[in-house]
Amino acid sequence: MFQLSEETSADWWEVEALYDLCFAPGREALSSYRLRDGVPPVPGLSLVARDRDGILAGAIRYWPVRVGDSPALLLGPVAVHPTRQGEGLGALLIKDSLARARIAGWDRVMLVGDAPYYNRFGFWKLEGVEMPPPTNPDRVLGQDLSDGAWQGVKGRVTRWVG
Ligand SMILES: CC(C)(COP(=O)(O)OP(=O)(O)OC[C@H]1O[C@@H](n2cnc3c(N)ncnc32)[C@H](O)[C@@H]1OP(=O)(O)O)[C@@H](O)C(=O)NCCC(=O)NCCS
Repeated sequence: MFQLSEETSADWWEVEALYDLCFAPGREALSSYRLRDGVPPVPGLSLVARDRDGILAGAIRYWPVRVGDSPALLLGPVAVHPTRQGEGLGALLIKDSLARARIAGWDRVMLVGDAPYYNRFGFWKLEGVEMPPPTNPDRVLGQDLSDGAWQGVKGRVTRWVG
């Protein structure tokens, strides 16, 4: 019913409009956006979901970040159009992109979000991982993409440079 494909530059503004619709106004004021400023999303992991008529129904993007000295993926934003929510599309976007991230060789992934939603995909609260303030530490979640990848990884989350 939905076709997933890698986001291209032609999709960018359509995805931005979907995020504007799905998130509260001022979403770009969130501290997580400071980690994205001037850094391109990770190629091959950011996906769009379109219905059979080509209408955009959902999207997910990823950015690279550092936690202490270690690389990590920052999942998000992920959003599904309000008329398409609750049909499993969010789950499809998350699971499919995480599988791609594993194949691409990423070891760990983090996000800022609601634990009751993300627990089902294997995310748990990260201890000692500090997002730029103001961020509620209970919303800082992560998951290993390779065995034990978060073990010993702590510190400030900073923008990917170089
Ligand atoms: C969150 C979002 C991407 C989920 O997409 P979706 O396609 O509706 O999700 P799914 O169909 O895979 O899953 C739906 C289930 O997740 C639950 N769910 C959705 N958002 C939730 C949340 N924030 N906390 C807890 N549960 C949530 C729904 O209640 C539903 O539960 P059910 O399976 O018991 O009925 C979508 O609701 C959305 O775009 N929301 C607005 C933007 C947003 O909040 N993005 C996430 C930022 S953390």
